[in-house]
Amino acid sequence: MSNVVVVGAQWGDEGKGRIVDWLAEKADIVARYNGGHNAGHTLVVDGRTYKLALLPSGVVRGKLGVIGNGVALDPEALLAEIGRMAALGVHVTPDVLRIAETATLVLPVHRAIDAAQERLRAKPLGTTLRGIGPAYEDKVGRRGLRVCDLAEPELLAAKLDVLLEHHNAWLRGLGLEPFQREPMLSDLLAMAPKILPFKARVWQLLDDAHSSGKRVVFEGSQAVMLDVDWGSYPYVTSSSTIAAGAASGAGIAASKLGRVLGVSKVYATRVGEGPFTSEVDGALGDLLRQRGGEYGVNTGRPRRCGWLDTVQLRQSSKVAGIDLLALTKLDVLDGFDSVYLCVGYELDGERIDYMPASDAEQQRLQPVLRRFDGWQRTTRGVRSYSELPPQAAALIEAIEQEVGIAVAMVTTGPERDDAIVLRPPFEDADGRKV
Ligand code: GDP
Ligand code: IMO
Ligand code: MG
Repeated sequence: MSNVVVVGAQWGDEGKGRIVDWLAEKADIVARYNGGHNAGHTLVVDGRTYKLALLPSGVVRGKLGVIGNGVALDPEALLAEIGRMAALGVHVTPDVLRIAETATLVLPVHRAIDAAQERLRAKPLGTTLRGIGPAYEDKVGRRGLRVCDLAEPELLAAKLDVLLEHHNAWLRGLGLEPFQREPMLSDLLAMAPKILPFKARVWQLLDDAHSSGKRVVFEGSQAVMLDVDWGSYPYVTSSSTIAAGAASGAGIAASKLGRVLGVSKVYATRVGEGPFTSEVDGALGDLLRQRGGEYGVNTGRPRRCGWLDTVQLRQSSKVAGIDLLALTKLDVLDGFDSVYLCVGYELDGERIDYMPASDAEQQRLQPVLRRFDGWQRTTRGVRSYSELPPQAAALIEAIEQEVGIAVAMVTTGPERDDAIVLRPPFEDADGRKV
């Protein structure tokens, strides 16, 4: 059986959640491998909207969800989300959710440090202030708390002391209020009996699933341009968002990951700071934002909008291992007289066809735009390629050609089945590389 990894191919919010939900119909397990509740994944099913942050998007279909070791797990946020889902009739019990015992914990002190770091930065990154970056810092600093520690109260207290000693030195140095062990420890111990029933040897579960021919969808959060290695550093998140991250962040051999489906809008958005070469300011940018409903799922922040950048998408596809593309939100471009693709960059007057590594150079890039005729007919809810206006089909084909990756799906509305399927991602036949 083939698995599929779903990776954000731009700056996040491409519609990964709804693609994962669609794929989950034919899968047995949906596994998250990176990020935490900085993510916001939206599903719309029969007019009802589900906003997920930590829970894998398969839970709405009742599919077994896995939270891998690569996820930064805020236990308070998880329990609140489980409560919100229950109110929508989705009951997340240990029968349908397993959490890696080695997942790192996000604590209140991480949220405070995230806010303090942002305040201190000459140029803030525009983080989600969820404490994700500082929690990952503690993980690689080898002082993090993990899910399995919740079962060992004495050890937990000792580890928390070490962690606080480290951070309080920094907080005191800045004249900020240090964190006390209490009430953080008692809050953690109070949550432990609610979290521990979900704890599992996820690596073994995934290995058994593979041996018995089950199919897994690995659900990425964030996106290649926010990847800590491959994104527009330092304007990135702190985890590995790419397909390779699914292997290390879920605990499965890279050779067993299967196909990699990169998700991209037919235009582009970015939330938070950092370079965005194809950004469109002014009335046109506002129109994209309004038509696309481009506001953060959990933070409500307006997203910056622009044209699809095929140079970025091509480079991101190579480093992230993307085999096929899912293009989302085609309907948002309905009614524009002209639409554009960014097909190259100019750097200090010279044409280049790659994204430079240096932040300073990225900030100086000028987009080379290719114009396409828009279309006036609505594509909203269209489910067959032949029903698309020829101009929309021409845009999709141009994206395939510029990026060099075949398009597997195009979505035409937020509802679960508002999609045109060109090449079912689970099929083993070779994807057409153009
Ligand atoms: P994710 O983080 O990648 O899962 O994406 P988000 O949920 O943050 O943002 C995607 C937004 O676009 C959500 O509000 C979706 O409901 C919406 N959406 C997804 N696909 C489509 C589509 O094809 N058309 C329209 N109009 N909206 C869509
Ligand atoms: P999904 O999974 C869009 C951005 C933040 C900020 C940067 C670092 O819904 O696509 P962090 O809090 O992670 O330290 O913030 O990353 N960011 C996202 N942008 N979608 C997301 O998730 C994001 N998660 C983080 O805006 O620029
Ligand atoms: Mg999102």
